[in-house]
Amino acid sequence: MSIYPTLTNKTYVVMGIANKRSIAWAIAKTLDAAGAKLVLTYAAERFKSGLESLAAELNGKALLLECDVTNDEAIDTTFRMIHEQAGPVQGIAHSIAFADKEALRGEFSEMTRGQFAQALDISAYSLTAVVKAAKPYFAEDASVITLTYLGGERVVPNYNLMGVAKAALDSSVKYLANEYGPHGVRVNAISAGPIRTLSAKGVATLTASCLSSSKRRRSVATSRPKKWPRPACSCYQVWVAV
Ligand SMILES: NC(=O)c1ccc[n+]([C@@H]2O[C@H](COP(=O)([O-])OP(=O)(O)OC[C@H]3O[C@@H](n4cnc5c(N)ncnc54)[C@H](O)[C@@H]3O)[C@@H](O)[C@H]2O)c1
Repeated sequence: MSIYPTLTNKTYVVMGIANKRSIAWAIAKTLDAAGAKLVLTYAAERFKSGLESLAAELNGKALLLECDVTNDEAIDTTFRMIHEQAGPVQGIAHSIAFADKEALRGEFSEMTRGQFAQALDISAYSLTAVVKAAKPYFAEDASVITLTYLGGERVVPNYNLMGVAKAALDSSVKYLANEYGPHGVRVNAISAGPIRTLSAKGVATLTASCLSSSKRRRSVATSRPKKWPRPACSCYQVWVAV
């Protein structure tokens, strides 16, 4: 018997699969195992063939759509197509972030205005843009999650600009939850521990944490510590909509 609830015939949109190491890919596989109808969005054409190969491993047939979250028109079109082809949206996993890697090393204040704007646009504003575009198409009792990190709450060496972006994302989650909760849409953030992905490669501290945790043979993805860590580090933080 499956440990997952059945999500048969419910449409979930997973945004942000770059490769098999992406957190979004783990989310997609879990939703697929629960029987969900999946829509997978990717940032640009260059990710398409890799995603097609991954999607072939799923039990269900996923709808694949390109969606660059810096482009409002593309986001609107994506959600219109999702509704036309897959029906009401039961859930969205927003697993997207970007910052120029030059701004993720050295002194925090060395970043430029352009690097700041780009990181905040893709890593924080995009959540609001996505929720806004999906608004007409949400199913009853829908749910949105995004991925955040501790570096938005406290200083994590080299996380720099992404820390500011995560603080903005965390705050956006609270305001979106407050606005959409009364309309039956929950908006939450999950704070993941360090996981070795393409994005984490850009942050020296995350890479080092991943390496030390794999040395301790405690892979975040596959094993469960005997005792859950205290809430200060790799923990879940979930803000639930009222
Ligand atoms: N890996 C970690 O240690 C860790 C820890 C905590 C939180 N997170 C967060 O998890 C989320 C997923 O990251 P990941 O670690 O799986 O890395 P990843 O590189 O696999 O995923 C990031 C995704 O963002 C997408 N993206 C970037 N710019 C985009 C754009 N303009 N339009 C659409 N998509 C765009 C990329 O294509 C990629 O698929 C991010 O928000 C990240 O900050 C990661």
